[in-house]
Amino acid sequence: MKVLLFGRSGQVGWELQRSLGVLGELVALDSDAQYNPGGLCGDFTDLEGLARTVAVVQPDIIVNAAAHTAVDKAESEPVLARQINALAPAVLAQAATKVGAKLVHYSTDYVFDGSGNRPWAETDATAPLSVYGQTKLEGEQAVATTAKHLILRTSWVYAARGGNFAKTMLRLAGERETLTVIDDQFGAPTSAELLADVTAHALRALVQKPELAGLYHCAAAGETNWHGYARYVLTQAQALGQPLKVGPDQVKPISTRDYPTPAQRPLNSRLDTRKLQRAFGLRLPHWQEGVGRMLTEIAQK
Ligand SMILES: NC(=O)c1ccc[n+]([C@@H]2O[C@H](COP(=O)([O-])OP(=O)(O)OC[C@H]3O[C@@H](n4cnc5c(N)ncnc54)[C@H](OP(=O)(O)O)[C@@H]3O)[C@@H](O)[C@H]2O)c1
Repeated sequence: MKVLLFGRSGQVGWELQRSLGVLGELVALDSDAQYNPGGLCGDFTDLEGLARTVAVVQPDIIVNAAAHTAVDKAESEPVLARQINALAPAVLAQAATKVGAKLVHYSTDYVFDGSGNRPWAETDATAPLSVYGQTKLEGEQAVATTAKHLILRTSWVYAARGGNFAKTMLRLAGERETLTVIDDQFGAPTSAELLADVTAHALRALVQKPELAGLYHCAAAGETNWHGYARYVLTQAQALGQPLKVGPDQVKPISTRDYPTPAQRPLNSRLDTRKLQRAFGLRLPHWQEGVGRMLTEIAQK
């Protein structure tokens, strides 16, 4: 089996290089051509290059971990965001159909408007609030046009590699006298590791049972808000002996209204993951397990 991965240097892409390696031969591409073998294209602004690359590689599975993920920046560069999040996935869907490949794609809770407090099901109506959410929705709709697709909508992705919310909180709590964090957006921090592992398991199942193709919500179990997430991070860091100026009890809650950003974010990012767990016989661990592991990893560096 041959697997073609796009976006290999992102949070999820990096972990996919590990988890997909056991499925077969892995061709993992970067957005920058100089890091790719044989002139293959992984640049999502080069639509012809993408189609050519799929035709040359002839993969059994295409996994797309590339995206324009700068949510606020997307508001001022909607053309580029649409190119990367919607038009390029559409090209991959057409190319996948041509070569008979399965196509895995990631989407987001930002396709919802964040109303209510019930976890969103795959069948709920979408109504994105931002350019990022809108272009991601267009991307998943394009991917769904190819029969053998697997779309995983997820939330609040983090990884030990690169920057993330937990690392920012640790840094700020070491530098500042006070810390204010939003307490009215709810969701589940989900590790890139978990997404990559679920992807590999789901792909194995999909190879055996093509009828499992479709759209699934995939996020860690439990829920929190950014304030609760920050408090958990600082509590664990203190337990690991890290010196902090701001302890977990000194983190002040703030509302989204009082923290304006270019892109509007949903207040309710909870995802109902029962469909995925049932279909693939998987259990999704609590978000604190993954965040705790990452903090231990960071502390040991
Ligand atoms: N991060 C989150 O909180 C979150 C939440 C929900 C859903 N998701 C979804 O999960 C998936 C993975 O996200 P992530 O957190 O791993 O994102 P990430 O760390 O920001 O990685 C994004 C990847 O996309 C690549 N990329 C950007 N512009 C590109 C272009 N023009 N051509 C080709 N590649 C390009 C980046 O490569 P370069 O660095 O080389 O440009 C990077 O490898 C995405 O579909 C995202 O929408 C993420």
